[in-house]
Amino acid sequence: MSRGSEFVVVANRLPVDRVAGEDGVPSWRRSPGGLVSAIAPVMRRREGTWVGWSGAADEELEPFDEDGMHLVPVRQSAEDVQLYYEGFSNATLWPLYHDVIAPPVYDRAMWDAYVRVNQRFADAVAKVAGKGAIVWVQDYQLQLVPQMLRELRPDLRIGFFLHIPFPPTELFMQLPWRRRILEGLLGADLVGFQLPGAAANFVRLCRQLLDAKTVKQDVVLDDRTVRARAFPISVDVDELRELIARPEVRRRAEEIREDLGGGTVLLGVDRLDYTKGITQRLQAFGELFSDGGLKPGEAVFAQIATPSRERVEQYQILRDQIEQQVGRINGEYGELGAPVIHYLHTSYDREELAALYLAADVMVVTPLRDGMNLVAKEYVACREDLHGALVLSEFAGAAPELRRGAFMVNPYDIDGLKETMLGAIHADRADQARRMRVMRKRVIEHDVDRWAQEFLSALEHTPEHVPA
Ligand code: ADP
Ligand code: G6P
Repeated sequence: MSRGSEFVVVANRLPVDRVAGEDGVPSWRRSPGGLVSAIAPVMRRREGTWVGWSGAADEELEPFDEDGMHLVPVRQSAEDVQLYYEGFSNATLWPLYHDVIAPPVYDRAMWDAYVRVNQRFADAVAKVAGKGAIVWVQDYQLQLVPQMLRELRPDLRIGFFLHIPFPPTELFMQLPWRRRILEGLLGADLVGFQLPGAAANFVRLCRQLLDAKTVKQDVVLDDRTVRARAFPISVDVDELRELIARPEVRRRAEEIREDLGGGTVLLGVDRLDYTKGITQRLQAFGELFSDGGLKPGEAVFAQIATPSRERVEQYQILRDQIEQQVGRINGEYGELGAPVIHYLHTSYDREELAALYLAADVMVVTPLRDGMNLVAKEYVACREDLHGALVLSEFAGAAPELRRGAFMVNPYDIDGLKETMLGAIHADRADQARRMRVMRKRVIEHDVDRWAQEFLSALEHTPEHVPA
C-alpha cells in the first residue's frame, strides 16, 4: 500500500473539465472560475494531490496526472449534480452568501444530497491522505468536509478556505441547516476567509448559534482551538508576466484593438453570473450614448462572459436578460459593422485573456457582491505599461486592496457608474500611471504564492490541542 499524499487539496471541481471535442473525442480543459485560477499554480509547485469532480455526471474515472498535478476524481450522479451542485451549492448557498441578490431555494432533498456528497468527498480524501498530512478544503460546496474528515482521520491537519463572502448574521440565520454548516467548518484547524469582516461574521455566529467560547478570532472548543482569519486571495503574477511578454500576445492585443474600431476600449470579463453586475454596467454604458456623454465610434464595450451553471434557473434568466439588453443597445446606437457592445458568451485560453487585458483602456469590474474578483487583479498584473484604468465595485473583495488606484463605484447607482466610467475613459496618462503604480505594487507584493504560503504556514502553526 502506498504511503499516501502529504498535501491534499479538495475542491468540488478538479482543475480540468472533461469536454467533448469536435470529433467527439473527449479532452481536458481548464475549469472556470477564480478558485481554479488561484489554486492550480500553487498545486503545480507543491506536487500535491487534488481531489475533485470532473464536471460530468455519472463518470467513473481512475486517478490521473495532468498539467503537473495528481488528480483524484470523485463521482457525481446526475441526481447529485442536480441536487448537490446545481441545487444546494448554487441555488441555496451561492445566493445566500452573496447578499441574497437572487432568492435562495431552501429544499430538504437538496440538503440531503449536500450531506451525502460531502461525505463522499471526505471518504475519498481519507483514503488518499498520508499520515499527518495537510488537507486543504476549498469553498462553499464542501463546508461539511472538515468535520466529516476529522471524524475519519483525527491525525490530519485540516485547513478550509472560503472563496466567496461569508454572510452577516441577519442573512445566515435564514438557513434551516445553519448549525450544521458551522459545526462542519469547525472540523478545521484554520478557517480562512477573503476579508476580516467575513471571519468576524463566522466567529460571531459560532458564539450566537453554538454558544461557543470565542477569544478574538478564535473559537475555543473543548479539545481544540479553531482559528478564523482573513487571507485575501490573489493571482499568479509570474504567469501573467510571462504571457504578456510573448510577442504573439502583444500582436494579438493590437489586432483586437483594430478589430474593435479604434475608439476607447472598455472590457468586462466574467463568468455569466448575476453577482457580477453585468446588466448594470451595460445599462450605464448604453445610457451614456442616449445622454450624449459618448458618441458611437468614440468607445466600444467588449463583454466576455463564460458560460456558467447553465441549468440553474437564475442563470438562464440572466442570460436572456443580457442578450436582450445587448440587442437593444446595439440596435439603437450601433452602426452597420460597428456595434457599440461586443458580447461573447464563451471561454478563452490564458493567452487570449492576457491579450484582451492589454487591449483594454478601461477594465470594468462591477460585481454587486464578490468574494475577491481575480479579474481585477489580473488586469492590474498585466499592465506593466502603466496604461489603462480600472473601474471597480465597492462590493468586490478586491476593493480594500485596490481602492487607492481604482475608479471606485457603487454598481447599484447607475448615474454614479456612468460618471465613473466617463472619468476613467477621460483620465490622462499621468493619472492612469499614478493609479496603476499603486495597484501594481499591492498585487505584485501579494501574489497567489504569498497567499498560499501565508495560509499554509498559519495552518502548520495552529496548536494541535489547547494547553490544559
Ligand atoms: P469567479 O471566481 O466568481 O468566477 P474571479 O474574477 O475571481 O470570479 O475569477 C474568474 C477567473 O476565471 C479569472 O481567473 C478569469 O481570468 C477567468 N475567466 C473569467 N472569464 C473567462 C473567460 N471568458 N474565459 C476564460 N477564463 C475566464
Ligand atoms: C467561483 C467559486 C468556485 C467555482 C467557480 C466556478 O470561483 O468560488 O468554487 O468553482 O466559481 O463555478 P463552477 O460552478 O463552474 O464550479
